Amino acid sequence: MKLDDLMVDLHTRTKALRRDLHAHPELGLAEQRTSDIVAAKLAALGLQVHRGLAGTGVVGTLQAGSSTRAIGLRADMDALPIDELNAFEHRSRHPGTMHACGHDGHTAMLLGAAEALTALRDEGRFDGSVHFIFQPAEESEGGGRLMVEQGLFEKFPLQAVFGMHNWPGLPVGQMGVMPGPIMAGTDRVDIVVKGRGGHAAMPHLATDTIVAASALVSALQTLASRNTEPVEPTVLSITRFHAGSTDNVLPSEAHLGGTLRTFSAAQQALMNAGMKRICDGIAAAYGVAIDLGIAPGYPPTINSAAETVVCQEVAAELFGAANVHADLNPSMGAEDFAYLLREKPGCYVWLGNGLGDGNCLLHNPHFDFNDEIIPLGIRYWVALVERILPARPA
Ligand code: NI
Repeated sequence: MKLDDLMVDLHTRTKALRRDLHAHPELGLAEQRTSDIVAAKLAALGLQVHRGLAGTGVVGTLQAGSSTRAIGLRADMDALPIDELNAFEHRSRHPGTMHACGHDGHTAMLLGAAEALTALRDEGRFDGSVHFIFQPAEESEGGGRLMVEQGLFEKFPLQAVFGMHNWPGLPVGQMGVMPGPIMAGTDRVDIVVKGRGGHAAMPHLATDTIVAASALVSALQTLASRNTEPVEPTVLSITRFHAGSTDNVLPSEAHLGGTLRTFSAAQQALMNAGMKRICDGIAAAYGVAIDLGIAPGYPPTINSAAETVVCQEVAAELFGAANVHADLNPSMGAEDFAYLLREKPGCYVWLGNGLGDGNCLLHNPHFDFNDEIIPLGIRYWVALVERILPARPA
């Protein structure tokens, strides 16, 4: 059987499933309906199905031939706390929740690949095990981390893991397959500036936390611009600033928060030390106390060299070398597939979701996954398996 023959019908069914998932989005660690659908489809294909890692996580295993080699293919299942503004038929039925990152498409495409590979397995087209990993909570709690911590790789020994994300702004039929750091590591920053509150008309009797916090916001911006090697990607964004409640009171506390994005542990340490230094300096200069809290988030997502080359070759064969980009700038966004890549070699790729009005940015209330790229994603997964787990000559 040719994949082409299967693909027409598979595309139609996968598109219907994708739209059903889009209409019924679920937040991280609460993907119960999605998880049920995934597990049922994998079981119907005859795969071994494991449930419960990170709660709603599902792993389906397809075994072919006698090889002990195994790889993992991963999709994320969760949606975002966004009110969808689209009006089309498959818009979200759940107010305040929306598939604005295309994880509906990732889940549907990986299920489509499981079906295609099950058909091809029966023709001896590959030899080894494929673990289809469906993870919760990519956007929030780090379902990828939870699955790893709860024994993903002990339960499912494998040699390499692979991930894929749709990429708006990259044309349909193109892929980004870059070696090394591709998505940033994050730190969550929480700052409390504490002073002596008082009457707004008698500032000399108080210590003004708003003025100190304002100076702090400005000073923190010098870390990326003045303390960092210019070619080292770094973002520190202060995104929260809360203080005060009325006109005539100087508040005794100001609360700031934000996010730090870096691509290496060394840069992360440099920025963390810089934030501490500036907080201490501003505290002394303005006569306030400053508590700095830094909570590590996702590590940087780093593709391993050899696996990236394999993915580039597979993608080039499918889409043409000119349509496979190895030199796109990495994204300062973050991705919990990083936790899987910290344990195993592998590669996380971007699949072009298209250009134009219908392809607004990820996390936008008008976003929608492009159903035309479904066959491209499925073909990539299939070709990757056939390449890494080649059938033995009969
Ligand atoms: Ni995403």
